[in-house]
Amino acid sequence: MELMDANAHGNVHGGVIMRMVDESAAIVAIKHSQNPKVVTARVERFDFLAPVYIGNVVSIHCAMNYVGRTSMEVGVEVLAEDSITGEARHVASSYVIYVALDENGKPTPVPPLVPADDKEKAIIERARIRRMRMKKLDEELSRAEEIKD
Ligand SMILES: CC(C)(COP(=O)(O)OP(=O)(O)OC[C@H]1O[C@@H](n2cnc3c(N)ncnc32)[C@H](O)[C@@H]1OP(=O)(O)O)[C@@H](O)C(=O)NCCC(=O)NCCS
Repeated sequence: MELMDANAHGNVHGGVIMRMVDESAAIVAIKHSQNPKVVTARVERFDFLAPVYIGNVVSIHCAMNYVGRTSMEVGVEVLAEDSITGEARHVASSYVIYVALDENGKPTPVPPLVPADDKEKAIIERARIRRMRMKKLDEELSRAEEIKD
């Protein structure tokens, strides 16, 4: 990371990391859906675990966690490596949800996610549960908003 990526404290600006995450995870969604027209629908969570320093080498590790009908959740881990010592730290994690669009800009189906083994099955199942909880929470919050109005 370079000086132009710095925040007022002299570390790497969180927004720079968020952009790298979105760009990298979008590539995974594009490859899975075989569709260049995917949009970011939601950043489900974004945890900054440790600062990234100027001079660190940042790598973004993405995996497709879950595929719905037209949406895809990509799990992301960000590592920052000290370029002198080679020490790598896990500095951020995120889940980003993308939706594939057709030529009219409407959500369009994507291929299913086929697990290769039990470990991948468990990852998909955890993401499915997260998704259900997220939907339930969204519904509860919009009901609460309606009552307030
Ligand atoms: C994302 C978007 C296409 C969804 O459109 P929509 O008409 O609400 O779509 P639908 O209700 O048919 O939902 C389509 C899928 O997206 C999912 N989805 C939509 N909004 C979502 C959200 N905020 N969070 C999580 N999932 C979402 C739905 O659950 C559904 O999933 P499924 O097909 O796998 O079951 C639309 O809101 C949009 O264009 N947003 C702007 C995207 C953008 O500009 N991003 C930034 C730049 S890339």
